[in-house]
Amino acid sequence: MTDDAEHETQAPQDAIDAASEQRQRGRDQRVYEHTAGDVQDGIPFVGAGPGDPGLLTVTGRDLVADADLVVHAGSLVNSELLEEYCADAETVSSVGKDLEELIPLMRDAHEDGRTVVRLHSGDPAIYGAALEQMDALEQEGVPTYIVPGVTSAFAAAATLRTQLTLNGTANHVAFTRPQGNTLDAEDDHVSEFVEMGDVTTCIYLGTHAIPDVMERLLEDGHDPDTPVTVVYHASWPDEDVIEGTIETIGERVEAAGYRASALVVIGEAGAGANYDRSYLYGDWANRGESEADD
Ligand SMILES: C[S@@+](CC[C@H](N)C(=O)[O-])C[C@H]1O[C@@H](n2cnc3c(N)ncnc32)[C@H](O)[C@@H]1O
Repeated sequence: MTDDAEHETQAPQDAIDAASEQRQRGRDQRVYEHTAGDVQDGIPFVGAGPGDPGLLTVTGRDLVADADLVVHAGSLVNSELLEEYCADAETVSSVGKDLEELIPLMRDAHEDGRTVVRLHSGDPAIYGAALEQMDALEQEGVPTYIVPGVTSAFAAAATLRTQLTLNGTANHVAFTRPQGNTLDAEDDHVSEFVEMGDVTTCIYLGTHAIPDVMERLLEDGHDPDTPVTVVYHASWPDEDVIEGTIETIGERVEAAGYRASALVVIGEAGAGANYDRSYLYGDWANRGESEADD
């Protein structure tokens, strides 16, 4: 095989289809050989966390510190983090690059013996489009794995000094996104989550659409006084918190001028209000050691 033939890139869509097919036949053995957090062979897909460099995991920090090439998620990854932990590495933003460009970039660097890290914002498992890159690289013979990070909903909860689940208020959490260019109206479930009542609905990728989302919730008959909190740039120096309700939040966010990088939290838990004391530190505290999760 010539060098050129060796480096011909498999079309990413073919690679994704092949990986899906393989997965249906059975799990990759590495699932059983490693635990999350293990440093493995190949290119790690590292969750950079929400922004503050201190919210990168220790393993993530060690990996970027050791990298020759860091391919990162552009403005969603705080440049302070790159300056602090990998000042000597080549850094490339993935913004505006398609898979056809990204995959050979990472593959070639890996094959040249360079240490490559793919840095995603928050956690790669949430709206990260990580798997398609991993599948395409794996099909090219480049091993990959995930190093988790702090997703922005958790940073928002920390900012708000609350929990996303609260006894008697929110037994469930939905990570969701609203309809738009990449999600059809029939796949938008925001209203259904809000309808359930005891769900904290965390909306990603919807900052620009907050007035529209709230309008639809009003049209669907939801209580206009339902609390909604918007956390812009959670954990960044310019972090901002905007409080409101389904009725008021759209106007407030528009007035603030935010069109991206905010997390929308719908429900009482976002406000830390009206919850009941937990069983864990109540009557159950003295029941002794238990295997049960709850
Ligand atoms: C492409 S998604 C990536 C999400 C990321 N994987 C995560 O786990 O947070 C980008 C969306 O995440 C949210 N987001 C990312 N960073 C944020 C931050 N620091 N504060 C608030 N929301 C953030 C925004 O809703 C933004 O539109």
